[in-house]
Amino acid sequence: MSGNSYEKPDHWTLKAKSEGYPARSVYKLAEMQEKFKLLKPGTRVLDIGAAPGSWSLWVLRFLKGSGFLAAVDLSPLGMKPPFANFFFLQGDLYDPAVRAALAERGPYGLILSDAAPSTTGDRTVDTGRSEALVEAVIGYADALLAPGGHLVAKLFQGGGERDLLQALRGRFETARGFKPKACRAESFETYLLGLGKKS
Ligand SMILES: C[S@@+](CC[C@H](N)C(=O)[O-])C[C@H]1O[C@@H](n2cnc3c(N)ncnc32)[C@H](O)[C@@H]1O
Repeated sequence: MSGNSYEKPDHWTLKAKSEGYPARSVYKLAEMQEKFKLLKPGTRVLDIGAAPGSWSLWVLRFLKGSGFLAAVDLSPLGMKPPFANFFFLQGDLYDPAVRAALAERGPYGLILSDAAPSTTGDRTVDTGRSEALVEAVIGYADALLAPGGHLVAKLFQGGGERDLLQALRGRFETARGFKPKACRAESFETYLLGLGKKS
């Protein structure tokens, strides 16, 4: 029997399905919320790399109609969340027109990025692209995150982690990495957190 956990639905995949989420990744966000209290009722949230939509749906269920969620992805969402305080834009986070449309709905109290590049199998290429996404997301935080706000960004672990954390330390009261338990055992992804944006 293979030990590769991508081959069969695990506990988290089955739980996500039973709770109506399109992806198991939702439990990574739930764990970070539990530990770092990122979201409060009324928070305005930006979800970058939102498809198929589990994080967005989880945020909307948490907000219960308060606050606001703007979300963006290259791909469409795999569902239509039945919430009025929600705006989804299909587009590329590097596109200035996308950034302008998201800026119109800001500032935000929380920016989430689970954005990940399509993987090539070349670890150096994949981690480089992931680092570039995190740098772009930090640019979003510079422009669109309110003072005191929080940032969460997924990173494929490679050489750039230390520099990115250093960039966050200059901008946030606290900067750290965190690997949720729901990350697959063989995954080399982690999350970088900036907590309490400095004014
Ligand atoms: C792991 S998935 C996100 C899962 C999502 N958090 C959820 O819970 O359903 C990563 C997403 O990042 C998106 N992405 C990658 N590069 C992007 C870019 N340049 N602009 C917008 N989205 C991007 C991909 O299209 C993909 O849907």
